[in-house]
Amino acid sequence: MACAPPALAPIPSDRPVIIAHRGASGHRPEHTVAAYTLAVQMGADFIEPDLVSTKDGVLVARHENEIGGTTDVALKFPERRATKVVDGDTVSGWFTEDFTLAELRTLRAKERLVLRSHAYDGQFGIPTFDEVLALADSLGRARGRVVGVYPETKHPTYHRAIGLALEPKLLAALRARGLDRRDAPVFIQSFEDGNLRTLRSETRVKLVYLLGAGSLSAEKLRDIATFADGIGVHQRMIIGADSAAVPTTLVRDAHAVGLLVHVWTLRSEPVFLGKRYGGDPVAEAREFVRLGVDGVFGDFPDVVAAAVLGRERLP
Ligand code: G3P
Ligand code: CA
Repeated sequence: MACAPPALAPIPSDRPVIIAHRGASGHRPEHTVAAYTLAVQMGADFIEPDLVSTKDGVLVARHENEIGGTTDVALKFPERRATKVVDGDTVSGWFTEDFTLAELRTLRAKERLVLRSHAYDGQFGIPTFDEVLALADSLGRARGRVVGVYPETKHPTYHRAIGLALEPKLLAALRARGLDRRDAPVFIQSFEDGNLRTLRSETRVKLVYLLGAGSLSAEKLRDIATFADGIGVHQRMIIGADSAAVPTTLVRDAHAVGLLVHVWTLRSEPVFLGKRYGGDPVAEAREFVRLGVDGVFGDFPDVVAAAVLGRERLP
């Protein structure tokens, strides 16, 4: 008789979750198998794929549908440059919706930021969402623990308007892997409330509404709680960067209406790190843990893990 595989350790619920922002994107080119794999090795509970669509309707992991800044598309398809209006912004470059998956398979990822290492440029392809789900599953099984996936719908209204709606494909991919359930190790995130409000009636998967600035009234938070399980907020909405900054009441206010609070995006380089942390990125992550957030997005999952787990080294 075949033995059942051992149960995987669940993602702990008694501490903030460690969310690898675009993978371990501080160490490897973002949204690559290498970045996601390293993130899990560093202790990430969740890997985060941002999702856009190909011309033939396949979800792929890229931060935006314009891919000139994160791939070698300009070298391989110079004639395919285009100018479009995306969510009100005029953007020139190369767009995933103009390429089939087969064409995107020929590209290689590169680091977006000048200030980060380019040693891995040209080595890794663009993963599909289904490949990210498969990767999370296999990385988790290899380690005996659940690895979650935290997909973000990028430009959902735009994609729907061009006939490439993201949400049906996203839900189909989750359903195919038995992940369309309340207790799945999945959060779906969006900066648009419209698609989250619709998704609320289509899936029981946890939903997170992203916000980049401003304050949130109790009334607004109560409204968000009707369609989302949590908010994903810019770190400065919780505390400013200066030494004298005082925390807002956002974490407490959101918790009071039953919303989880996840904070983004911690980055270790001096150009991003608030003055109040004195050059110590672990101190920054520790502060958000102390302030009671339920999850931390970081480009450096090793740093977030050090703060959350009290771990200063790789496992
Ligand atoms: O999803 C949380 C955070 O990633 C939002 O910002 O622009 O990096 O997707 P962005
Ligand atoms: Ca994101």
